[in-house]
Amino acid sequence: MAPRHFLRLRDLERDELERVLARAAELKGLRRAGRDPKSLAGKVLAMIFEKASTRTRVSFEAGISQLGGTALFLSPADTQLGRGEPIEDTARVLSRMVDLVMIRTFGHERLERFAAHAGVPVINGLSDSFHPCQLLADIQTYLEHRGPLAGRVVAWVGDGNNMANTYIEAADLFDFQLRLAVPEGYEPDAELLARHADRVVLTRSPAEAVAGAHLVVTDTWASMGQEEEKARRERDFAGFRVDHELMARAAPDALFMHCLPAYRGREVTAELLEDPRYSVVWDEAENRLHAQKALMEFLCGALG
Ligand code: CP
Ligand code: NVA
Repeated sequence: MAPRHFLRLRDLERDELERVLARAAELKGLRRAGRDPKSLAGKVLAMIFEKASTRTRVSFEAGISQLGGTALFLSPADTQLGRGEPIEDTARVLSRMVDLVMIRTFGHERLERFAAHAGVPVINGLSDSFHPCQLLADIQTYLEHRGPLAGRVVAWVGDGNNMANTYIEAADLFDFQLRLAVPEGYEPDAELLARHADRVVLTRSPAEAVAGAHLVVTDTWASMGQEEEKARRERDFAGFRVDHELMARAAPDALFMHCLPAYRGREVTAELLEDPRYSVVWDEAENRLHAQKALMEFLCGALG
């Protein structure tokens, strides 16, 4: 049977995502009680990182260890991938040795090519187009603090990047309205926007996007691989910083999220990021661990 992959959020059906999230909450409770199940005993996860990471690397590595498995960290610097071995060959070879592969890379088509040749599940640990694991953690975090996002309004303020694209898919799968405030020239994927036009509104005004919203989300103005555009982006994103004044326009019980790393004073003020009345970024980061443990169980057929 062909393996299931998680390259984008919609690779899982709604009910499957809900099962993963329910299990994530359960795994969080079990961890707190010191009772991690050994549900992935003997399983090996290969992690290919073509970009830097703190949260993704540590949450996958710690997560599979807690469930009784092992992780291998592979970087282009010390594998044959960095010397030009085709990704298709790497996929076929790794599939004969490990049980799961996680990849963080640039072009999304690299992930698709890898998955097309893999005999084991492949997880997107972030590509230029999507960051679906982060969305699992974000949804889990909102659920914990405020309940389901269904019927609510989410405001995205900033770059129409991989996270924004993933929020568009999430709006459809989790049944919420998404308002994206994005400067001209930084729009998310046009095809995705068109496909989900019933749920997603694009504006140039952060104030308009945030008005009455239940969740306000932002991310860095310059993603990995865009380091040289930093100065230009800082000019173009002036007016898109999330601060207390902007949050005051949101619903009274609105939350603030950021996938991190955050650049204080740029996309978000230090005061808002550190304000526990709104900011749930540390829970959001922790939930990467629990959500991905549940995801790995699901993909390995170990989730009920
Ligand atoms: N949010 C996130 O994916 O963080 P890392 O880049 O540290 O993995
Ligand atoms: N959009 C950011 C997210 C980092 C976790 C990036 O791609 O660098």
